[in-house]
Amino acid sequence: MIYTYHTNGELTIANIGEFVNLRGWVQKSRHLGGLIFIDLRDRFGITQLVIRPDNPFYEQALLIKSEYVLAVAGLVVERESKNMNMKTGEIEINIQELYILNTSDTPPIIVADHTDALEETRLKYRYLDLRRPVMQNFLIKRHEIMQSIRHVLVTEGFYELDTPILGKSTPEGARDYLVPSRLYAGHFYALPQSPQLYKQLFMIAGFEKYFQIAKCFRDEDLRADRQPEFTQVDIELSFTTEEDIRALTERILKYTFKRVLNEDIETPFRMMTYEEARETYGSDKPDLRYDLKIEDYKSILKNSDIPLFDGKEYIKGIRISQSHVLSRKKIDQLSLIVKKNHGEALTYIKYADGQLSGSIAKFIDEKTIAALQLKDDEMIFIVPGRKRDVLDALGALRIEIAKQFQLLDPNVYKFLWVIDFPLFEYNEEEDRLVAQHHPFTAPQHIEAMKMHPETALAKAYDVVLNGYELGGGSIRIHSQDVQESMFSLLGLSEYDIKERFGFFVEALKYGTPPHGGIALGLDRIVMLMTHTTNIKDVIAFPKTQSAKDQMMQAPSEVDIKQIDELHLKVSE
Ligand code: AMO
Repeated sequence: MIYTYHTNGELTIANIGEFVNLRGWVQKSRHLGGLIFIDLRDRFGITQLVIRPDNPFYEQALLIKSEYVLAVAGLVVERESKNMNMKTGEIEINIQELYILNTSDTPPIIVADHTDALEETRLKYRYLDLRRPVMQNFLIKRHEIMQSIRHVLVTEGFYELDTPILGKSTPEGARDYLVPSRLYAGHFYALPQSPQLYKQLFMIAGFEKYFQIAKCFRDEDLRADRQPEFTQVDIELSFTTEEDIRALTERILKYTFKRVLNEDIETPFRMMTYEEARETYGSDKPDLRYDLKIEDYKSILKNSDIPLFDGKEYIKGIRISQSHVLSRKKIDQLSLIVKKNHGEALTYIKYADGQLSGSIAKFIDEKTIAALQLKDDEMIFIVPGRKRDVLDALGALRIEIAKQFQLLDPNVYKFLWVIDFPLFEYNEEEDRLVAQHHPFTAPQHIEAMKMHPETALAKAYDVVLNGYELGGGSIRIHSQDVQESMFSLLGLSEYDIKERFGFFVEALKYGTPPHGGIALGLDRIVMLMTHTTNIKDVIAFPKTQSAKDQMMQAPSEVDIKQIDELHLKVSE
């Protein structure tokens, strides 16, 4: 017999008198005045079942516990005491048939939105964690977002093409995950940090509009918005421009926000140069939901006899009103944040009720107060030092102050394009230039790249939302000569180039069209659209902060035979 089933989230007063079939998991079962009430749950909601003592299934129902799996049939009746907070809160099902499809051990975490389980336990029993409605919502939104993005790209004529996972190391800036080869002793595949080279090869192959929802792997330090294995919406186009790619990205995001959140986002997004973003907000991904701009105090304070400021390249700071909100203890915490982010020191002055206080107050006279235009209840935090350190420190301070003053409204979406990135950045540890984006990014001017690489700009852009880098891309180098100059500026020898990218430099010789693209971090998009700040929430089976799969216990030791086959030796 074929039954039609209702979900547990749909029956209302309009269904009274209907005979219905339901199935799901037991949220809870309770006995009240001889009756048994069971809350039956599926991903659509909860429906209350009632079983009376004269019911032939009563004895069986007494055995039912949380997370048992049931199939039931019964009559929809009006409840005596209604729960108007639930969609199904006005009805209950008077059970006529009941089948226990499976039993359950007592679950180690409570399967409900509110849980006090530790993250470790939640990840270990992820399949139970994912039964929680709040978690299901994250994944359902992820699905909807993926479908919306696909819809735009497919409608616009993009081909969805997938690329290998076993490949060769490409330089995306992080450490590779390597896979040893059994057939070639001492040789390794690398898991893709992104499909960057493959997508460029698609352009050479004549697929002028490509996309892929691609898994990427990077062995880097993890943060709240970073996983070792993550997903990109990877896009590449031939015969394109920066403007085209930005407009396409805006169409994707606009459609997706409307379709999934019914949110109208304003396009075109604001644009800001990398230089302005760094100088004004101390970040290349500024959160524009709040102001708190970095101000320059060097001309006012350089001769102020403050020893810490003497001869410093940068003397910059952030001004806040309502300074009384910040306690002394909080200021000490801010000071630690500044130091953690390369700041030499956090100094401050505070003006309240005509009184000046703070770590540099004794050096500040009336004239300086006037020059600083310090108002009542205002406070200025100042960091002296090298340009890069001061901006890093103030960027971090700005975010922390915004948190303190609760300026981070998740319902406000401030999109931004950051453009005109430097082509290179100086790596102090290695004492050499490294590519800011990646070594396939085109310079704005080829001559400038060759003559003054340290100040040359790239045809690169990042899309930023509320302080997160959502995506980044660039116009690529399509000429073999320019690509070779780029490699040599990066200090790669001819041997290195041939070994690592020989196939690619070769491919560039055969009529490569001008091309460019972008990759959007899908996990971050889902994270921001679901208002969580933890990327793990939106990934079904994430790794821990220390890159472990808590459920499978991966990475794990393997059989010695497997290690031998791979020609490896493990040192203790
Ligand atoms: P990029 O390295 O900037 O560019 O990556 C693109 C976007 O991917 C997301 N992302 C991550 N998300 C979660 N965890 C991580 N560890 C992680 N690393 C990156 C970010 C980022 O903006 N091939 C180029 C793109 C191109 O040039 O077309 C690339 O991978 O949201």
